[in-house]
Amino acid sequence: MRIAILGFGSVGRGIARVIQEKDPGITVTGLADSRSGIMDPEGIDLPAALDRKEKKGLCGDRQVSPLNVVDGAEYDALVEVSPTRIDDGEPATTHIVHALSRGKHVVTSNKGPIALAHRRLHALAVSHGVQLRYEATVCGAIPVLHILQHDLLGNQVQALHGVMNGTCNFILTRMEDEGLTYDQALAEAREMGYAEADPTYDVKGIDAALKLVILANTVWDLGVTLDDVEITGIDLITPEAIRLACDRETTIRLIAEAIPEKGLLRVSPRIIPQGHPLLVEGTLNAVTLHTDLAGELTFIGKGAGSVETASAVIGDLLYLGEHHAGAH
Ligand code: HSE
Repeated sequence: MRIAILGFGSVGRGIARVIQEKDPGITVTGLADSRSGIMDPEGIDLPAALDRKEKKGLCGDRQVSPLNVVDGAEYDALVEVSPTRIDDGEPATTHIVHALSRGKHVVTSNKGPIALAHRRLHALAVSHGVQLRYEATVCGAIPVLHILQHDLLGNQVQALHGVMNGTCNFILTRMEDEGLTYDQALAEAREMGYAEADPTYDVKGIDAALKLVILANTVWDLGVTLDDVEITGIDLITPEAIRLACDRETTIRLIAEAIPEKGLLRVSPRIIPQGHPLLVEGTLNAVTLHTDLAGELTFIGKGAGSVETASAVIGDLLYLGEHHAGAH
């Protein structure tokens, strides 16, 4: 399979490194960051591109724009992993529209376009006979969308609850375990590269809400947006509140929940008893699905990180290679 990668930050570079190390039968024929691009139908030299990015901050040639790569490179699937912009989902949405319109599959970790324009993009993919896959947009390495779309077919999903933001979970865990202040814990999360480019998306609950919107629209086709989610972040949580919860053998976690029957879509800090399945540590995510046949299922895994996100992207690509090889 030939791919073009748009975005060469932590996720894009993680994908390139995994392809280089594991050689999963994927050739990168187009690559762009926000300021440069490169195309080679025979396959781009990935170690050289990684080296250029590290030394010069550019993966390719300044004359080649991301859109040049989307429109001009020879590939089967576009991998859109540029940073999320949630106000308008751009420029990623335009990249995805162009690729789908060329009859190319799209795999993305970019929450903006999927949360804002899922119906339109899905319809465009269907009309061009290609696939739009976005496992990496929710819960990092946990293959929750695949489980919902494939493994639980035949079940009715009644509700879902989850810890869906690794940065918030890391901050809360560090405040609890080490007695750090919110600001100290946030600084650590940023240093380790878990947080979004703008970490207010994380701590104000917006990132978790985007994931909830994506899940709700995928599972129930609700057509909801961020405005439909009741959101409270963790930025006002004090060490005292955490200590108090601890004294009562409970702890605080940022929980996202969707119960369509009650019209409920909410992200908020909640008090969780010790031993609760959603009580995970550090950057872990956890998601519980409530279903009619399979009952309650909880999945736990890394919710953030470059290689973990690459796992979801490469899983989507290999799935496409196996099941939908015939893109134009
Ligand atoms: N900033 C996000 C998180 C990255 O902390 O969960 C993964 O979506």
